[in-house]
Amino acid sequence: MKRIYGIIGDPVAHSLSPVMHNAAFEKLGLDALYLAFRVSKGELKDAIRGAKSLGIAGLNVTIPLKEKALFFVNAEEEAKKIGAINTIDFGSGTPVGYNTDGIGSMQALKEVVDEIKGKKVLILGAGGAARAISFYLDAEGAKVTIANRTKERAAQLTSILHNAKSIGLGAELTKQLKDMDILINATSVGMHPNEDATLVRADLMHPDLVVFDIVYNPMETKLLKEAKKAGVKKVVDGVKMLVYQGAASFKIWTKKEPPIAEMEKAVRDVLNSIPKRKVL
Ligand code: ATR
Repeated sequence: MKRIYGIIGDPVAHSLSPVMHNAAFEKLGLDALYLAFRVSKGELKDAIRGAKSLGIAGLNVTIPLKEKALFFVNAEEEAKKIGAINTIDFGSGTPVGYNTDGIGSMQALKEVVDEIKGKKVLILGAGGAARAISFYLDAEGAKVTIANRTKERAAQLTSILHNAKSIGLGAELTKQLKDMDILINATSVGMHPNEDATLVRADLMHPDLVVFDIVYNPMETKLLKEAKKAGVKKVVDGVKMLVYQGAASFKIWTKKEPPIAEMEKAVRDVLNSIPKRKVL
C-alpha cells in the first residue's frame, strides 16, 4: 500500500517540502506520497493522533507547531534539549519526534567550512531555528554569539549553551562582526515578500566571513547580495538547509540514502520558476 507522508503547519500551502520529498520518492521508486496539511495549534494534538490512526508514515512539523508538537510525541533527547521538533516518525507505532534542523544546517555549513571547532559564529535570531543551529555549533566547539532583537530571548538561549554569549542588534552587533568567522541569519528577515530587508549590510562584512542565510525564498536574499557586494567568498543559501534537514527526515522515515541532488534540483526548479514579485 502507498505510504503517506506530509508536512503540518500554518501556513503551509507554499511549502516546498512536498515537491522535494516527492522527487526523492520518485527517484528511488518508492510507492509513497508527501502532502501538505494545514493544521492550527488548537488542532495539533488531534492531528498527530489522527495521523497515527490513519497509518500515516511520517510528518514534518513547521511554523508555528514545532515547539508545541514536542508535547504530543516521544521526543529524542536532542529534540528535547532544543525544545522543538520538525520530524515525526510513526514507524514504531508510537509517534517519535526528532529535530533535523540543526543537522541540516551543519551539513549545509560544512560544504564550505572544514572545521567548526574554535570558529567564531554570530547567529542572528533566537527562535526555534536559531536554537537548533546554535545547539549543534556549540556542541562542535564553536564560539557562538547570539544577536537578537529581543535581548532576553537571546540570553535565555545562551543559558543552555556551553560557550556562548548574547548581544542585541545595535552597536554591539557592528562591533562584534569584524571579528567573526561565520554569520548565520536564523530569522525570517529578508523572506518574501520583504525581500529588501537585511539585519547586516555589506559595510559590516569582511571577505573571509562565511555568510549563511536560512531564508530560501528568495534564493538570493538581500543578506547574500550584501555579502557579494562585500566580496565575501563563501555563502550558503537557505535551499541547502531545507534540503539537508529534509534529507535527514527522509532517512529517518525510509532508512534509505536520500537522493540529495534530485531533492535540491526539485526545490531550485520551483524557486527559479517563480516570476519576480509574485506574492507567495
Ligand atoms: P523560527 O521557529 O522560524 O525560528 P520564531 O521562533 O518565531 O521562528 O523566531 C523568529 C526569530 O526571528 C526571532 O529571533 C525574532 O526575533 P524576536 O525574538 O525579537 O522576536 C526574529 N525576527 C523576526 N522578525 C524580525 C525583525 N523584523 N527584526 C529582527 N528580528 C526578527
